[in-house]
Amino acid sequence: LTVLEHIELPPTADLHCHLRQDAMMHLVTPYIEKGGCDTALVMPNLQPPITQVSQAVAYLEALSQIAPQVKFLMTLYLHPTITPNVIAEAAQSKIIYGVKLYPAGVTTNSQDGVLDIGQYYPVFEAMQAHDLVLNLHGETPDTEVLQAESAFVPTLHTLHAAFPRLRIVLEHVSTAKGVEAVRQCGPTVAATITAHHLFMTTENAEQDVYNFCKPIAKTLKDRIALLRAAVDGSGKFFFGSDSAPHPIASKEQSNAAAGCFTQGWTTVLVFDALKQAIENGWISNHKITQETLEGFLSTYGKQFYKIDELNGPPRRRIRLEKSDETIPKSIESLSGKLEVVPFRRGEQVMSLSWL
Ligand code: NCD
Ligand code: DOR
Ligand code: ZN
Ligand code: ZN
Repeated sequence: LTVLEHIELPPTADLHCHLRQDAMMHLVTPYIEKGGCDTALVMPNLQPPITQVSQAVAYLEALSQIAPQVKFLMTLYLHPTITPNVIAEAAQSKIIYGVKLYPAGVTTNSQDGVLDIGQYYPVFEAMQAHDLVLNLHGETPDTEVLQAESAFVPTLHTLHAAFPRLRIVLEHVSTAKGVEAVRQCGPTVAATITAHHLFMTTENAEQDVYNFCKPIAKTLKDRIALLRAAVDGSGKFFFGSDSAPHPIASKEQSNAAAGCFTQGWTTVLVFDALKQAIENGWISNHKITQETLEGFLSTYGKQFYKIDELNGPPRRRIRLEKSDETIPKSIESLSGKLEVVPFRRGEQVMSLSWL
């Protein structure tokens, strides 16, 4: 357990986050490094969505100006205009790592998403050939929200069977069923796990609008399955925060926007969740080792995305230690016009420093 009191680690890789655009982008992007991350896979659900390589290039430039030390991995939004030719161009660009499939209507800015997955088989074929990752928002539309992910599991198996060499990530896995499905698939299939899903059940999500996200947090059994997967050492589960900032007004309206903002506290939140899990007897102490922590937070994801072999070992490291730091009630832009409330606001966390 001492490893959870103070520890040095390679920087965290956040392999799923929302950095938005305009003022919101400027506000939240600096928080990647505050959270201890040197790598961020950036989701494409902007308005309009990132469906062209040229848009991804421009977005990468804007992000790199704000946080030049972060390695940004860009993605495209799967859309009818994405053809096998666009996939070839994306692969050639070397800046695009994945293509995100949003079933139409399941979450923020998914109205331009996919209605018929079968229509995209030629695109998946090209992605497999060019070795791009398919990022799945694994929820079935028009399904009761608590069942939406388990209803998607057969689609995951169908895609994996049809494209066994295509690397697939079941993003923000939220159920024991999803974890089990990923374990059953071959090594080309992995899943990201968020910090907030390690903390919550449906009850928490219903109590506080800042706990509301998609997929919604499920049962305690599901939460424990995620905690165990995060430290199972299999290499199939790695960290993706799904940090998803929304302005206060978008959260505090009757039809609240889905998303938990965790970007500035990604690494310390994971530690806090694991600590709670040990205290509650949900995972055993010996599962928490330097190796499993580094694997989940950093190396498994970088290996899956094949970026460690390009870059060599990270130059910098991070250090976590006990402190009485608390997560602020909100963060705001310099003008004060934009305000975002973090997940677990007011809670005490470890402090993180860059070495
Ligand atoms: C909005 C933003 O940047 O603030 N959107 C966006 O960039 N896609 C927030 C939102 O998603 O509603
Ligand atoms: O909670 C979520 N928010 N889940 C998503 O899949 C999208 C995200 C967002 O963009 O706000
Ligand atoms: Zn998603
Ligand atoms: Zn997301």
